[in-house]
Amino acid sequence: MALPSIDMEKDLSVLKTLRSTLEGHGYQEQAIAGLLDLWDISELSGADYALYCWKCRRANTPLAHLVSTFLLGLPSSKPRLRKLLGRDALECLLDIGLITHDGPIYSSEAVIYPCLGMIIFTDHWALAGGVQEMGKVYELGSDSYVLARVTPRKGEGKALDLCTGSGVHAVHSAIKGMVSSAVDINPRALMYTRFNSFLNEVDCSAALADLYSQTGEESYDLITANPPFVPSPDKDVLIHRSAGETGEEVPERLVAALPEKLREGGLFSMVLEHPVFEDDPYLDRLERWLGETEGWCILVLTFKEYPAAKYVVRHLGGVEDQEAGYNSYLESYAAHGIVAMRFANVFIQRLPYKAPNFKLNQNTVWPNRDIAQEMGDWFEAISYYHNPDWEPDPNWRPKPNSIFKNCWRNQAQTQGILETDDQTWIETSPLGLLETTLFFWLDGNRKISQLREMWVEAGHQVSLFVPTLRKLGLNRALEFRSSQ
Ligand SMILES: C[S@@+](CC[C@H](N)C(=O)[O-])C[C@H]1O[C@@H](n2cnc3c(N)ncnc32)[C@H](O)[C@@H]1O
Repeated sequence: MALPSIDMEKDLSVLKTLRSTLEGHGYQEQAIAGLLDLWDISELSGADYALYCWKCRRANTPLAHLVSTFLLGLPSSKPRLRKLLGRDALECLLDIGLITHDGPIYSSEAVIYPCLGMIIFTDHWALAGGVQEMGKVYELGSDSYVLARVTPRKGEGKALDLCTGSGVHAVHSAIKGMVSSAVDINPRALMYTRFNSFLNEVDCSAALADLYSQTGEESYDLITANPPFVPSPDKDVLIHRSAGETGEEVPERLVAALPEKLREGGLFSMVLEHPVFEDDPYLDRLERWLGETEGWCILVLTFKEYPAAKYVVRHLGGVEDQEAGYNSYLESYAAHGIVAMRFANVFIQRLPYKAPNFKLNQNTVWPNRDIAQEMGDWFEAISYYHNPDWEPDPNWRPKPNSIFKNCWRNQAQTQGILETDDQTWIETSPLGLLETTLFFWLDGNRKISQLREMWVEAGHQVSLFVPTLRKLGLNRALEFRSSQ
């Protein structure tokens, strides 16, 4: 199947209502996941393609017809599409080449993903045979959805989305009020980025470039990236995949440029699967690439780990000789010392003061909903409590963060385990003995001065009071937005 091209010279104005039309039929992540019996829309798998088709046929609702046409690529008919989309939108999609027909059989040449209120057109995610074409623009995979859901946006400033593909993250930044630009080395990606900006009624500039190469002296408040990351000995793998034999060629270049490209307070957010080497922890590697030991926060949310042998099986789509491919990938992984791969989101924030870098890896499940606000609150708290000049106001009455409903002590009474409420996604590390002790005294009534007295009376060193409170703050255990 040839990849479609969109004739953007045509009059597209009638497509401005397409987003609301689709939304009106319930074309949204959760509803589609429910229809296809998935925990998350991003779990679509070629292996279950026939099952999805069957579910849509059985459901026989407007949403099921839309999913069947625009997510699964099944044929439809003119009367049905006209009824679902309206006559003018259908004519326009035919006119620009996104819907074609062979006699009475009408098909969509691209897929449409809903994502956080946006609609995103891109190339088909996987054709029935699992064959993917060179030059194809990336679908919205779990990586795309995760990056969209975990990245906080402040609603102003300049955003750059590198490796933009369909442009989903650039469009998202523009919707949130940022001046947004996108970069990719694949010209087809820019076509989709421009089209998707139009459909979602925002402006994004889109440039054909190798990473930062065309950005000149410009710096940014937000840099997002879902780069190629699959370690591969094969130089001819798909454009969205190839990043050298360790998979780290592109991620390393992205991170190394941050001291020049990220403004004070700015955030870099990158989703990827990264290799695990036995004796080179990822946080150290990121810090080495960054080349700075002070003034940065490096936080990694790790969602899942795959042993190398299993990982390779998942990534052989598009490789002709599967057995030879499997062997050569695994030999290459072994030669480079890759023992596993981890699905993670890397955040690197430029702090507005000099202090030794704050580095943390937090294991957690990958979110199937928007947790950007939660992440944004955490970064604010880190930036605040990590500051070496921070001193609590003696009149402040700290209270526990309401996102936690319980704190349990372990059997040996050496740790406190914070139990989050059901709306909270990010897990927390256990609190140490001193932090747990202090945490149980925070009732929102006791002032800092009183807490300090209790601390000393209980026999703890006074010099440990502020560092212990600071650790609670960094671990999101304190209500940050209450007055302090
Ligand atoms: C995994 S896709 C991500 C697409 C999209 N950002 C998303 O999250 O769905 C990676 C993208 O990186 C682009 N790419 C690969 N190497 C690049 C480079 N050196 N500079 C710019 N873009 C690159 C590919 O063309 C592809 O569109």
